[in-house]
Amino acid sequence: MADTTKTATLTIDGTDYELPVHQPTAGPDVVDIRKLYGQAGVFTYDPGFTSTASCDSTITYIDGDAGILTHRGYPIDQLAGKSHFLEVCFLLLYGYLPKAEELEDFETTVTRHTMIHEQMHNFFRGFRRDAHPMATMVGVVGAMSAFYHDSTDISDERQREIASFRLIAKMPTIAAMAYKYSIGQPFVYPRNDLDYAANFLHMCFSVPAEEYHVDPILARAMDRIFTLHADHEQNASTSTVRLASSSGANPFACVAAGIACLWGPAHGGANQACLEMLKEIGTPDQIPEYIARAKDKNDPFRLMGFGHRVYKNFDPRAKVMKQSADEVLDLLGVEDNPTLQVAKDLEKAALEDPYFTEKKLFPNVDFYSGIILEAMGFPTAMFTPIFALSRTVGWVSQWKEQLSDPQMKIGRPRQLYQGENLRDYVDIENR
Ligand code: CMC
Repeated sequence: MADTTKTATLTIDGTDYELPVHQPTAGPDVVDIRKLYGQAGVFTYDPGFTSTASCDSTITYIDGDAGILTHRGYPIDQLAGKSHFLEVCFLLLYGYLPKAEELEDFETTVTRHTMIHEQMHNFFRGFRRDAHPMATMVGVVGAMSAFYHDSTDISDERQREIASFRLIAKMPTIAAMAYKYSIGQPFVYPRNDLDYAANFLHMCFSVPAEEYHVDPILARAMDRIFTLHADHEQNASTSTVRLASSSGANPFACVAAGIACLWGPAHGGANQACLEMLKEIGTPDQIPEYIARAKDKNDPFRLMGFGHRVYKNFDPRAKVMKQSADEVLDLLGVEDNPTLQVAKDLEKAALEDPYFTEKKLFPNVDFYSGIILEAMGFPTAMFTPIFALSRTVGWVSQWKEQLSDPQMKIGRPRQLYQGENLRDYVDIENR
């Protein structure tokens, strides 16, 4: 817990209550209200947790006004430019950049855990072919607790570590299998001679009938997408993982809960929703109509890929993603991609419109990611599973941190009850 040298005073009905104020290493001070109910008999009210810090953490920091994202202190643009996903995984899990031999050991361990229990293939076959791959992933990841009993005892540090490796290593295999199953192609086993991103592309796009060569530039772009999504402090899915874990649930069940939460269009589902929106807009001349709809209070339509709970400035991940979109489309020889053109024109039009600038709505990470993924050959339904596999390391790191936090308690929010007061049951004939 951070230092407490300040206090805040809350006055309720003329009585003062002194509350400790914690000073973080970065970000706003935090008023500690843990004892407030015991002392004053009141709750605080914060639906959506817009002003509530739910935990101590040392993993990720976001300054939403400045558009800064750091992992363990390192800025995301440096990590996306100079590092690679598995090194970022190590950093998130252990808190420091690994030495060469530590990284090699870590990479070997993850690589050797990429296969899934053979029996799980049957589990996949129980799903309908037209199931959304996220539905399959929620089910299969939840079912890992039925296959890996030797890493579900959360009181055992070694088991926690093995569960972490298994989740990070097997998630690409599971996502690729969900995809292969949905298109009726055979599952492709992981290959230990390929790196994490190249192996994922191989499992998604190769078929047993012929050789498949993974383009290193595409593998690098894939790796960068993983890196940009690796963690994002206490977002909805991560908070879901932490809340599920606070009851002592096993890590596979907790991560399955995180995947379920990520699926929603306001969170990880936005990348699919964004590309669908860009295609629906179709041509730049339609943009004014869609901007008008996004601004209309009576129309539920929102510009997908725009706005963020925390960023009130450019999402730093969106800048890297935009650059990557240009590089990937160049490589694939798609010079005049109409969707990319709509995205660029839409971004420009929104950033010149006072509605968006006054509300500080900027492109987020999902605005350009769908364009890259589609150019690589992924169908829209795979966008959110790719987000899920990238975010797994974030969920796992936050879960490990929570379990070693002495302040950890079961999560149990209270409520502002607005219902009926006590009343007597009325027999059916008298209603
Ligand atoms: N288009 C139009 N208006 C918007 C948008 C948008 N995309 N986002 C927010 N607004 C307006 C909103 O109507 C509200 O207006 P008013 O103050 O007049 O009522 C104001 O901006 C504040 O919005 P909010 O809904 O109170 O903000 P929030 O912090 O609760 O929501 C958000 C954040 C990301 C859910 C929202 O911006 C949104 O729905 N964006 C589109 C979905 C999206 O791209 N999500 C991906 C987020 S990044 C990836 C991830 O981390 O999962």
